[in-house]
Amino acid sequence: MKHLVAPSLLAADFLHLAQEVEMINESEADWLHIDVMDGVFVPNISFGFPVLEAVQGICRKPLDVHLMIVEPQKFIAEVAAAGAYLMNVHYEACTHLHRTIGAIKEAGMKAGVTLNPHTPVALLEDILPDVDMVLLMSVNPGYGGQKFIEHSVAKVARLKEMIVDKGLDTLIEVDGGVNLETGKRLVDAGADVLVAGNFVFKAHDQKQAIHALKEL
Ligand code: DX5
Ligand code: ZN
Repeated sequence: MKHLVAPSLLAADFLHLAQEVEMINESEADWLHIDVMDGVFVPNISFGFPVLEAVQGICRKPLDVHLMIVEPQKFIAEVAAAGAYLMNVHYEACTHLHRTIGAIKEAGMKAGVTLNPHTPVALLEDILPDVDMVLLMSVNPGYGGQKFIEHSVAKVARLKEMIVDKGLDTLIEVDGGVNLETGKRLVDAGADVLVAGNFVFKAHDQKQAIHALKEL
């Protein structure tokens, strides 16, 4: 499968959100990645459901929602109602991850589990068959524009091996510090979806930046 590209709205110009989403509609982006933060799970606050709903109203690409919040299971109905295609919850934020993944699917969404940089992929052994996607953080979540953590490439390769060994088709998404150089190495290691915030939205030619990521 050719890899997918999911620009991260966090790096968009919020004063011109409609134009930014229209750019995504007209681009080769496969999904739009949306970062929700609560100031508790991560040391920052981004935006919540009213923004998500407004974006969903005009976005023609599937919404890949990344919840950097504690107790994400409390908001499954809201995320579904806001039109998410995929709901990503953090492994570190879910005590009853298996139950939460089941509830996400019952609500009609694809289910993703996200790992912080320090969380080993080996911990996914028993949940892997139940999730549609694993989102590997290649920066500590909370902010855009951070430096890519190098060991993420090896982590992608290890996770890919686990997925192949189990005969699964789980997608691997990587988020944080993705550009053409890191993106190429991630795709070569087995990444299926590249999230990119600053690289896309701060580019002089945003659609060209998305095109270049698709071409890797
Ligand atoms: C970080 C967010 C990312 C962020 C990526 O906590 O999860 O999605 O927007 O931004 P860049 O690509 O600029 O590192
Ligand atoms: Zn994200």
